Amino acid sequence: MKSTRRDFLRRSAAVGSAAVCTAALLPEALTTKASAAKPTKKKLKILMLGGTGFLGPHTVRVAISRGHEMTLFNRGKSNPHLFPDLEKLRGDRYSDLSALKSNRKWDAVIDPFTYVPRTVKATAELLADRVQHYIVISTISVYKEYSKPNMTEDAPLEEVAPDVVERIKHHREVMPYYGGMKALCEQAAEKVMPGRVANVRPGLIVGPGDPSDRFTYWPVRVSHGGETLCPNSPKDLVQNIDVRDLAEFVITTVEKRLLGAYNATSPGGERTIGQVLDESKKITGSDAKFTWVPNSFLEEQKVAPWSDMPAWLPAEGEYAGFGTINTAKAQAEGLTCRKLPATISATLKWWQEQSEERRAKLRAGIAADREKEVLAAWHKKNKESEG
Ligand SMILES: NC(=O)c1ccc[n+]([C@@H]2O[C@H](COP(=O)([O-])OP(=O)(O)OC[C@H]3O[C@@H](n4cnc5c(N)ncnc54)[C@H](OP(=O)(O)O)[C@@H]3O)[C@@H](O)[C@H]2O)c1
Repeated sequence: MKSTRRDFLRRSAAVGSAAVCTAALLPEALTTKASAAKPTKKKLKILMLGGTGFLGPHTVRVAISRGHEMTLFNRGKSNPHLFPDLEKLRGDRYSDLSALKSNRKWDAVIDPFTYVPRTVKATAELLADRVQHYIVISTISVYKEYSKPNMTEDAPLEEVAPDVVERIKHHREVMPYYGGMKALCEQAAEKVMPGRVANVRPGLIVGPGDPSDRFTYWPVRVSHGGETLCPNSPKDLVQNIDVRDLAEFVITTVEKRLLGAYNATSPGGERTIGQVLDESKKITGSDAKFTWVPNSFLEEQKVAPWSDMPAWLPAEGEYAGFGTINTAKAQAEGLTCRKLPATISATLKWWQEQSEERRAKLRAGIAADREKEVLAAWHKKNKESEG
């Protein structure tokens, strides 16, 4: 594979994240190794930093449905119509935390805005005496490499040079260092609130509301029918998590007061890209015909994994362990993943509800014209080798 992992990450948001494993720093009694902790039955006061993008709204809804009291802190720019009945504190993670400077106490804070370590440090410092538990929404992109299968939470983490960390002031600059910066955000929270931090590390988050269209591309493309360019082999593994399942696990993390890191994605070695396409075809009743083109030819044609062929990477070289990340620890604590058809149906339903303008162009996946060209080149090559 010629493209490096960093190339993938530059092209689009990352694969999905560990720090000096926080569990190693905790007293034994606070770790949650194999035995599942009991969730509290108490109504909890939860502060959500954000809450109105993609994962946030689903998480807020799960928390409310389980009887908890939610406070949101954000700028009021993203989806301001959401949750009119909830308490909203206004501010900016970069420049104005004054709304968080009070005597208010919360049982837990959930932080998905974890890209620049100093912003996590600032909120954790401000809240440390008034919040018991800090949940960092991290990513499986924190891991240094993916060449080994069945990777657990204690695998080595990506690192970022101190001068780069110093230089990065905004999340818009983070992408080439996404995994390493997320790992540093985990560590920043742990340093301020030792033994009180959980790092939830999702894989690719998919389903209703996904702004990236990486997973959405496939059901939508299949629904259009016709010959469809498909990456490498239907047996290639993929791993992803329905945003609704992730939201349930985030609130379980709060209720069980889990600590340390949890890989939160579909079980390794189970899902394939072929299943995503086949189920999409069944659900949409489309006449799509799948043409699986080897990765070597896709490379020749400069068809990029993850962006042109989204939600998929070839399991080779530094990515040989792709699709096999170990999720046993989170599963033991209650992470469940609904079946692919449920996610595909909900994604399509959500997509149909979007404005015409939003649906005019998918934000991921190869353009239709280019797809035709690559398929034509593939058929030409095959004819030549036959003749
Ligand atoms: N997508 C994936 O496949 C994937 C995979 C693995 C991990 N992850 C992780 O999952 C998490 C996804 O989170 P999300 O974006 O969906 O969370 P979210 O809480 O739904 O949305 C982001 C929130 O941040 C607020 N915000 C943005 N800029 C802000 C600022 N300067 N100050 C204060 N608040 C600000 C936004 O509101 P305002 O704009 O109104 O301020 C919004 O409420 C991230 O940590 C990501 O790294 C994603």
